Amino acid sequence: MQTEIYKNQLDTACEKFRAILEAQLKRVEAMKSQGDFVDYSALDTIKIGVCGGDGIGPTITHEARRVLEFLLADEVACGKVTFIDIDGLTIENRIAKNKAIPDDVMDELKACHIILKGPTTTPQKGDGMPNIESANVAMRKALDLFANIRPVRVPEEGINWTIFRENTEGGYAVGSSGFNVTDDLACDFTITTKQGSDRIARLAYDYARKNGLDRVSLVTKANVIKTTDGNFLEDCHKVAEEYPEIITDEWYADIMTAKLVDKKRRTSFKVILCPNLYGDIISDEAAEFQGGVGTAGCANIGKKYAMFEAIHGSAPRMVREGRAKFADPCSMLRAAVMLLSHIGYQEKADKLECALDVCTLTEKRLTITGRDTGATCRDFGDYVMEKLSNQ
Ligand code: IPM
Ligand code: MG
Repeated sequence: MQTEIYKNQLDTACEKFRAILEAQLKRVEAMKSQGDFVDYSALDTIKIGVCGGDGIGPTITHEARRVLEFLLADEVACGKVTFIDIDGLTIENRIAKNKAIPDDVMDELKACHIILKGPTTTPQKGDGMPNIESANVAMRKALDLFANIRPVRVPEEGINWTIFRENTEGGYAVGSSGFNVTDDLACDFTITTKQGSDRIARLAYDYARKNGLDRVSLVTKANVIKTTDGNFLEDCHKVAEEYPEIITDEWYADIMTAKLVDKKRRTSFKVILCPNLYGDIISDEAAEFQGGVGTAGCANIGKKYAMFEAIHGSAPRMVREGRAKFADPCSMLRAAVMLLSHIGYQEKADKLECALDVCTLTEKRLTITGRDTGATCRDFGDYVMEKLSNQ
Protein backbone atom coordinates (compact mmCIF):
# COMPACT_ATOMS: atom_id res chain seq x y z
CA MET A 1 0.00 0.00 0.00
CA GLN A 2 1.16 3.49 -0.87
CA THR A 3 1.11 5.59 2.28
CA GLU A 4 3.33 8.27 0.71
CA ILE A 5 0.27 10.14 -0.49
CA TYR A 6 -0.81 10.50 3.15
CA LYS A 7 2.53 11.81 4.34
CA ASN A 8 1.21 15.21 5.46
CA GLN A 9 -1.83 13.75 7.20
CA LEU A 10 0.35 11.18 8.95
CA ASP A 11 2.77 13.83 10.11
CA THR A 12 -0.08 15.96 11.47
CA ALA A 13 -1.62 12.94 13.20
CA CYS A 14 1.70 11.98 14.78
CA GLU A 15 2.14 15.51 16.12
CA LYS A 16 -1.33 15.45 17.64
CA PHE A 17 -0.70 12.02 19.11
CA ARG A 18 2.57 13.21 20.59
CA ALA A 19 0.85 16.19 22.23
CA ILE A 20 -1.74 13.83 23.76
CA LEU A 21 0.96 11.55 25.14
CA GLU A 22 2.95 14.47 26.53
CA ALA A 23 -0.10 15.77 28.39
CA GLN A 24 -0.82 12.29 29.77
CA LEU A 25 2.78 11.83 30.93
CA LYS A 26 2.52 15.14 32.76
CA ARG A 27 -0.61 13.82 34.46
CA VAL A 28 1.26 10.65 35.47
CA GLU A 29 4.00 12.75 37.07
CA ALA A 30 1.37 14.82 38.91
CA MET A 31 -0.26 11.64 40.22
CA LYS A 32 3.09 10.36 41.47
CA SER A 33 3.60 13.45 43.62
CA GLN A 34 0.04 13.73 44.87
CA GLY A 35 -0.55 14.24 48.59
CA ASP A 36 -3.09 12.53 50.81
CA PHE A 37 -6.86 13.05 51.13
CA VAL A 38 -8.07 16.28 52.78
CA ASP A 39 -8.85 16.00 56.47
CA TYR A 40 -12.10 17.96 56.71
CA SER A 41 -12.14 17.92 60.49
CA ALA A 42 -8.94 19.97 60.45
CA LEU A 43 -10.46 22.75 58.32
CA ASP A 44 -11.83 25.89 59.98
CA THR A 45 -14.54 26.11 57.34
CA ILE A 46 -15.69 23.52 54.85
CA LYS A 47 -16.69 25.43 51.73
CA ILE A 48 -19.45 23.80 49.70
CA GLY A 49 -19.90 25.32 46.25
CA VAL A 50 -23.35 24.85 44.71
CA CYS A 51 -23.82 24.80 40.91
CA GLY A 52 -27.41 24.36 39.74
CA GLY A 53 -26.47 23.38 36.19
CA ASP A 54 -29.00 23.16 33.36
CA GLY A 55 -32.54 21.95 32.76
CA ILE A 56 -34.04 20.52 35.95
CA GLY A 57 -30.63 20.92 37.64
CA PRO A 58 -31.34 24.17 39.52
CA THR A 59 -34.66 22.79 40.85
CA ILE A 60 -33.32 19.53 42.24
CA THR A 61 -30.02 21.04 43.42
CA HIS A 62 -31.87 23.75 45.32
CA GLU A 63 -33.88 21.07 47.12
CA ALA A 64 -30.78 19.10 48.07
CA ARG A 65 -29.17 22.28 49.38
CA ARG A 66 -32.26 23.10 51.45
CA VAL A 67 -32.16 19.66 53.06
CA LEU A 68 -28.41 19.92 53.65
CA GLU A 69 -28.79 23.36 55.24
CA PHE A 70 -31.50 21.92 57.44
CA LEU A 71 -29.24 19.07 58.60
CA LEU A 72 -26.16 21.26 58.94
CA ALA A 73 -27.92 24.24 60.55
CA ASP A 74 -25.63 24.24 63.61
CA GLU A 75 -22.48 23.85 61.54
CA VAL A 76 -23.56 26.69 59.24
CA ALA A 77 -24.44 28.88 62.23
CA CYS A 78 -21.00 28.42 63.82
CA GLY A 79 -19.16 28.83 60.51
CA LYS A 80 -17.81 25.26 60.24
CA VAL A 81 -19.71 24.80 56.97
CA THR A 82 -20.58 27.43 54.41
CA PHE A 83 -22.53 27.21 51.16
CA ILE A 84 -21.36 29.29 48.21
CA ASP A 85 -23.42 29.87 45.07
CA ILE A 86 -21.50 29.30 41.87
CA ASP A 87 -23.40 30.66 38.89
CA GLY A 88 -22.13 30.38 35.39
CA LEU A 89 -21.96 26.62 34.94
CA THR A 90 -24.82 26.89 32.47
CA ILE A 91 -24.87 25.76 28.87
CA GLU A 92 -25.57 29.38 27.77
CA ASN A 93 -22.51 30.74 29.55
CA ARG A 94 -20.36 27.81 28.50
CA ILE A 95 -21.33 28.35 24.86
CA ALA A 96 -20.77 32.12 25.16
CA LYS A 97 -17.26 31.51 26.53
CA ASN A 98 -16.75 28.47 24.26
CA LYS A 99 -15.31 26.52 27.19
CA ALA A 100 -16.44 23.42 29.04
CA ILE A 101 -15.88 25.33 32.28
CA PRO A 102 -15.27 29.07 31.92
CA ASP A 103 -12.11 30.28 33.70
CA ASP A 104 -13.87 32.38 36.33
CA VAL A 105 -16.17 29.46 37.18
CA MET A 106 -13.15 27.17 37.46
CA ASP A 107 -11.52 29.62 39.91
CA GLU A 108 -14.69 29.64 42.02
CA LEU A 109 -14.83 25.83 42.01
CA LYS A 110 -11.20 25.59 43.06
CA ALA A 111 -11.81 27.98 45.96
CA CYS A 112 -14.23 25.40 47.48
CA HIS A 113 -13.52 22.04 49.07
CA ILE A 114 -16.73 20.35 48.01
CA ILE A 115 -19.06 20.86 45.06
CA LEU A 116 -22.75 20.04 44.93
CA LYS A 117 -23.56 20.02 41.24
CA GLY A 118 -26.78 19.72 39.28
CA PRO A 119 -26.79 17.99 35.90
CA THR A 120 -25.35 19.97 33.00
CA THR A 121 -26.25 19.73 29.32
CA THR A 122 -23.61 18.06 27.18
CA PRO A 123 -23.34 19.18 23.55
CA GLN A 124 -22.91 16.37 21.06
CA LYS A 125 -21.95 16.17 17.43
CA GLY A 126 -24.75 17.41 15.16
CA ASP A 127 -26.93 19.20 17.74
CA GLY A 128 -25.90 22.66 16.55
CA MET A 129 -24.03 23.58 19.74
CA PRO A 130 -20.26 24.13 19.73
CA ASN A 131 -18.41 20.89 20.37
CA ILE A 132 -17.32 21.76 23.92
CA GLU A 133 -16.46 19.00 26.34
CA SER A 134 -19.03 17.85 28.90
CA ALA A 135 -18.82 20.01 32.05
CA ASN A 136 -18.92 16.82 34.16
CA VAL A 137 -16.00 15.29 32.37
CA ALA A 138 -14.04 18.56 32.40
CA MET A 139 -14.65 19.04 36.12
CA ARG A 140 -13.70 15.48 37.00
CA LYS A 141 -10.44 15.90 35.13
CA ALA A 142 -9.62 19.45 36.26
CA LEU A 143 -10.23 18.64 39.94
CA ASP A 144 -8.73 15.15 39.54
CA LEU A 145 -11.87 13.46 40.89
CA PHE A 146 -10.64 9.98 40.10
CA ALA A 147 -13.27 7.87 41.83
CA ASN A 148 -16.90 7.91 40.84
CA ILE A 149 -18.78 5.97 43.48
CA ARG A 150 -22.31 4.92 42.59
CA PRO A 151 -24.37 2.94 45.10
CA VAL A 152 -27.49 1.02 44.07
CA ARG A 153 -29.75 -0.59 46.68
CA VAL A 154 -32.93 -2.61 46.29
CA PRO A 155 -33.21 -4.24 49.72
CA GLU A 156 -36.22 -6.44 48.93
CA GLU A 157 -34.34 -8.00 46.01
CA GLY A 158 -31.06 -8.42 47.83
CA ILE A 159 -29.34 -5.81 45.67
CA ASN A 160 -26.63 -3.87 47.46
CA TRP A 161 -24.04 -2.78 44.92
CA THR A 162 -21.43 -0.08 45.05
CA ILE A 163 -19.91 0.71 41.70
CA PHE A 164 -16.41 2.19 41.73
CA ARG A 165 -15.94 3.78 38.34
CA GLU A 166 -12.50 5.10 37.42
CA ASN A 167 -13.31 8.69 36.54
CA THR A 168 -10.40 10.40 34.80
CA GLU A 169 -9.02 7.88 32.34
CA GLY A 170 -10.20 5.30 29.77
CA GLY A 171 -12.15 6.66 26.82
CA TYR A 172 -12.81 9.88 28.73
CA ALA A 173 -9.22 11.02 29.31
CA VAL A 174 -8.88 12.50 25.83
CA GLY A 175 -12.43 11.95 24.63
CA SER A 176 -12.56 15.36 22.97
CA SER A 177 -9.09 15.06 21.43
CA GLY A 178 -9.75 12.36 18.87
CA PHE A 179 -9.28 13.40 15.26
CA ASN A 180 -9.91 12.60 11.63
CA VAL A 181 -6.58 11.46 10.23
CA THR A 182 -7.97 11.61 6.68
CA ASP A 183 -11.50 11.98 5.35
CA ASP A 184 -11.79 8.21 5.71
CA LEU A 185 -9.92 7.44 8.92
CA ALA A 186 -10.81 8.66 12.41
CA CYS A 187 -9.16 7.91 15.75
CA ASP A 188 -10.11 8.23 19.40
CA PHE A 189 -7.93 7.11 22.26
CA THR A 190 -8.28 5.26 25.51
CA ILE A 191 -5.78 5.76 28.32
CA THR A 192 -4.81 3.63 31.30
CA THR A 193 -2.06 4.46 33.75
CA LYS A 194 -0.61 2.37 36.55
CA GLN A 195 -1.19 5.19 39.05
CA GLY A 196 -4.75 5.73 37.86
CA SER A 197 -5.70 2.06 38.18
CA ASP A 198 -3.92 1.63 41.48
CA ARG A 199 -5.66 4.54 43.23
CA ILE A 200 -9.20 3.60 42.21
CA ALA A 201 -8.56 -0.05 43.10
CA ARG A 202 -7.23 0.92 46.52
CA LEU A 203 -10.31 2.99 47.26
CA ALA A 204 -12.64 0.17 46.16
CA TYR A 205 -10.86 -2.52 48.20
CA ASP A 206 -10.63 -0.21 51.23
CA TYR A 207 -14.35 0.42 50.97
CA ALA A 208 -15.02 -3.32 50.78
CA ARG A 209 -12.83 -3.98 53.82
CA LYS A 210 -14.31 -1.15 55.91
CA ASN A 211 -17.84 -2.26 55.12
CA GLY A 212 -17.25 -5.98 55.61
CA LEU A 213 -17.95 -6.78 51.95
CA ASP A 214 -16.15 -9.90 50.85
CA ARG A 215 -16.24 -9.59 47.06
CA VAL A 216 -14.90 -7.16 44.47
CA SER A 217 -15.91 -7.79 40.85
CA LEU A 218 -13.65 -6.38 38.16
CA VAL A 219 -15.30 -5.42 34.87
CA THR A 220 -13.29 -4.94 31.66
CA LYS A 221 -13.12 -6.05 28.04
CA ALA A 222 -9.55 -7.25 28.49
CA ASN A 223 -10.24 -10.07 26.02
CA VAL A 224 -10.41 -7.46 23.24
CA ILE A 225 -8.96 -4.18 24.56
CA LYS A 226 -5.90 -6.07 25.59
CA THR A 227 -3.38 -3.45 26.61
CA THR A 228 -5.29 -0.77 28.51
CA ASP A 229 -7.99 -3.02 30.00
CA GLY A 230 -5.38 -5.75 30.46
CA ASN A 231 -3.21 -3.39 32.54
CA PHE A 232 -6.20 -2.20 34.54
CA LEU A 233 -6.98 -5.79 35.44
CA GLU A 234 -3.39 -6.59 36.33
CA ASP A 235 -3.03 -3.50 38.52
CA CYS A 236 -6.30 -4.26 40.34
CA HIS A 237 -5.11 -7.80 41.03
CA LYS A 238 -1.89 -6.42 42.51
CA VAL A 239 -3.88 -4.26 44.91
CA ALA A 240 -6.16 -7.22 45.68
CA GLU A 241 -3.16 -9.16 47.03
CA GLU A 242 -3.15 -6.73 49.96
CA TYR A 243 -6.74 -7.73 50.77
CA PRO A 244 -6.56 -11.51 51.06
CA GLU A 245 -9.91 -11.75 52.86
CA ILE A 246 -11.69 -10.33 49.80
CA ILE A 247 -12.61 -12.49 46.82
CA THR A 248 -11.85 -10.93 43.46
CA ASP A 249 -13.72 -12.07 40.39
CA GLU A 250 -13.49 -10.93 36.79
CA TRP A 251 -16.24 -10.18 34.32
CA TYR A 252 -16.30 -8.89 30.79
CA ALA A 253 -18.49 -5.83 30.47
CA ASP A 254 -20.95 -7.49 28.08
CA ILE A 255 -21.67 -10.50 30.27
CA MET A 256 -21.79 -8.24 33.34
CA THR A 257 -24.66 -6.27 31.77
CA ALA A 258 -26.43 -9.61 31.31
CA LYS A 259 -25.70 -10.91 34.81
CA LEU A 260 -27.09 -7.75 36.39
CA VAL A 261 -30.51 -8.90 35.20
CA ASP A 262 -29.93 -12.48 36.38
CA LYS A 263 -31.89 -12.47 39.64
CA LYS A 264 -29.98 -15.37 41.18
CA ARG A 265 -26.49 -14.29 40.23
CA ARG A 266 -26.75 -10.56 40.82
CA THR A 267 -27.24 -10.74 44.57
CA SER A 268 -23.63 -11.95 44.90
CA PHE A 269 -22.21 -8.69 43.48
CA LYS A 270 -21.10 -6.19 46.09
CA VAL A 271 -18.32 -3.88 44.99
CA ILE A 272 -18.03 -3.53 41.22
CA LEU A 273 -14.77 -1.96 40.04
CA CYS A 274 -14.35 -0.81 36.46
CA PRO A 275 -12.71 1.56 34.02
CA ASN A 276 -14.55 4.75 33.14
CA LEU A 277 -16.77 3.85 30.19
CA TYR A 278 -17.97 0.47 31.50
CA GLY A 279 -18.73 2.13 34.82
CA ASP A 280 -20.80 4.75 33.03
CA ILE A 281 -22.85 2.13 31.21
CA ILE A 282 -23.23 -0.35 34.03
CA SER A 283 -24.23 2.29 36.57
CA ASP A 284 -27.19 3.44 34.47
CA GLU A 285 -28.31 -0.15 34.04
CA ALA A 286 -27.87 -0.84 37.75
CA ALA A 287 -29.82 2.29 38.75
CA GLU A 288 -32.75 1.09 36.66
CA PHE A 289 -33.45 -1.70 39.19
CA GLN A 290 -33.68 0.89 41.93
CA GLY A 291 -36.28 2.96 40.09
CA GLY A 292 -34.25 4.62 37.37
CA VAL A 293 -31.36 7.05 37.04
CA GLY A 294 -33.54 9.73 38.67
CA THR A 295 -33.12 7.91 41.96
CA ALA A 296 -29.35 7.60 41.90
CA GLY A 297 -26.69 9.98 43.12
CA CYS A 298 -22.94 9.68 43.12
CA ALA A 299 -19.73 10.90 44.68
CA ASN A 300 -16.75 12.04 42.60
CA ILE A 301 -13.81 11.83 44.95
CA GLY A 302 -10.28 13.14 44.58
CA LYS A 303 -7.50 13.76 47.06
CA LYS A 304 -8.09 17.53 47.18
CA TYR A 305 -11.66 18.05 45.96
CA ALA A 306 -14.89 16.10 45.88
CA MET A 307 -18.04 16.67 43.86
CA PHE A 308 -21.51 15.21 44.41
CA GLU A 309 -24.10 14.96 41.69
CA ALA A 310 -26.98 13.01 40.15
CA ILE A 311 -26.05 10.26 37.70
CA HIS A 312 -28.60 11.46 35.15
CA GLY A 313 -28.77 14.32 32.67
CA SER A 314 -30.49 17.72 32.74
CA ALA A 315 -33.84 16.57 31.24
CA PRO A 316 -34.39 19.71 29.07
CA ARG A 317 -37.66 18.24 27.80
CA MET A 318 -39.18 18.43 31.28
CA VAL A 319 -38.32 22.11 31.33
CA ARG A 320 -39.70 22.71 27.81
CA GLU A 321 -42.94 21.02 28.83
CA GLY A 322 -43.19 23.15 31.99
CA ARG A 323 -42.64 20.17 34.30
CA ALA A 324 -39.38 21.21 36.02
CA LYS A 325 -41.10 21.74 39.35
CA PHE A 326 -42.18 18.08 39.34
CA ALA A 327 -38.60 16.84 38.95
CA ASP A 328 -37.48 14.13 41.36
CA PRO A 329 -34.81 15.44 43.78
CA CYS A 330 -33.93 11.93 45.04
CA SER A 331 -30.78 11.61 42.95
CA MET A 332 -29.39 14.84 44.43
CA LEU A 333 -30.59 13.89 47.91
CA ARG A 334 -28.79 10.54 47.63
CA ALA A 335 -25.72 12.51 46.52
CA ALA A 336 -26.20 14.67 49.62
CA VAL A 337 -26.04 11.52 51.79
CA MET A 338 -22.64 10.74 50.28
CA LEU A 339 -21.52 14.35 50.73
CA LEU A 340 -22.33 14.31 54.44
CA SER A 341 -20.54 11.03 54.91
CA HIS A 342 -17.49 12.24 52.99
CA ILE A 343 -16.99 15.38 55.07
CA GLY A 344 -17.29 13.45 58.32
CA TYR A 345 -20.97 13.75 59.31
CA GLN A 346 -21.77 10.05 59.13
CA GLU A 347 -24.61 10.25 61.64
CA LYS A 348 -26.36 12.94 59.61
CA ALA A 349 -25.73 10.92 56.44
CA ASP A 350 -27.37 7.88 58.05
CA LYS A 351 -30.33 10.00 59.17
CA LEU A 352 -30.88 11.37 55.68
CA GLU A 353 -30.51 7.95 54.09
CA CYS A 354 -33.02 6.53 56.53
CA ALA A 355 -35.48 9.39 55.86
CA LEU A 356 -35.12 8.85 52.11
CA ASP A 357 -35.75 5.14 52.51
CA VAL A 358 -38.94 5.90 54.46
CA CYS A 359 -40.08 8.41 51.82
CA THR A 360 -39.27 6.27 48.78
CA LEU A 361 -39.47 2.64 49.93
CA THR A 362 -41.65 2.08 52.96
CA GLU A 363 -44.09 4.87 53.77
CA LYS A 364 -44.25 6.54 50.34
CA ARG A 365 -46.86 9.11 51.34
CA LEU A 366 -45.82 11.27 48.39
CA THR A 367 -44.75 9.98 45.02
CA ILE A 368 -42.95 11.79 42.27
CA THR A 369 -44.11 11.06 38.73
CA GLY A 370 -42.34 13.88 36.92
CA ARG A 371 -45.67 15.51 36.09
CA ASP A 372 -48.68 17.04 37.85
CA THR A 373 -49.97 13.58 38.75
CA GLY A 374 -47.27 13.48 41.45
CA ALA A 375 -45.71 15.65 44.13
CA THR A 376 -43.56 18.67 43.36
CA CYS A 377 -39.87 18.66 44.03
CA ARG A 378 -40.36 21.17 46.85
CA ASP A 379 -43.15 19.20 48.50
CA PHE A 380 -40.95 16.15 48.41
CA GLY A 381 -38.13 18.10 50.06
CA ASP A 382 -40.55 19.18 52.79
CA TYR A 383 -41.63 15.55 53.21
CA VAL A 384 -38.01 14.45 53.70
CA MET A 385 -37.41 17.23 56.25
CA GLU A 386 -40.58 16.31 58.10
CA LYS A 387 -39.21 12.76 58.45
CA LEU A 388 -35.86 14.12 59.58
CA SER A 389 -37.55 16.19 62.26
CA ASN A 390 -39.51 13.18 63.53
CA GLN A 391 -36.49 10.86 63.77
C1 IPM B 1 -22.56 10.35 33.87
C2 IPM B 1 -22.97 10.98 32.56
C3 IPM B 1 -21.76 11.66 31.91
C4 IPM B 1 -20.70 10.59 31.68
C5 IPM B 1 -22.10 12.42 30.63
C6 IPM B 1 -23.13 13.49 30.86
C7 IPM B 1 -20.88 13.00 29.96
O1 IPM B 1 -23.52 10.03 31.73
O2 IPM B 1 -22.18 11.09 34.78
O3 IPM B 1 -22.63 9.13 33.97
O4 IPM B 1 -20.69 9.95 30.60
O5 IPM B 1 -19.89 10.38 32.56
MG1 MG C 1 -23.72 8.11 32.57
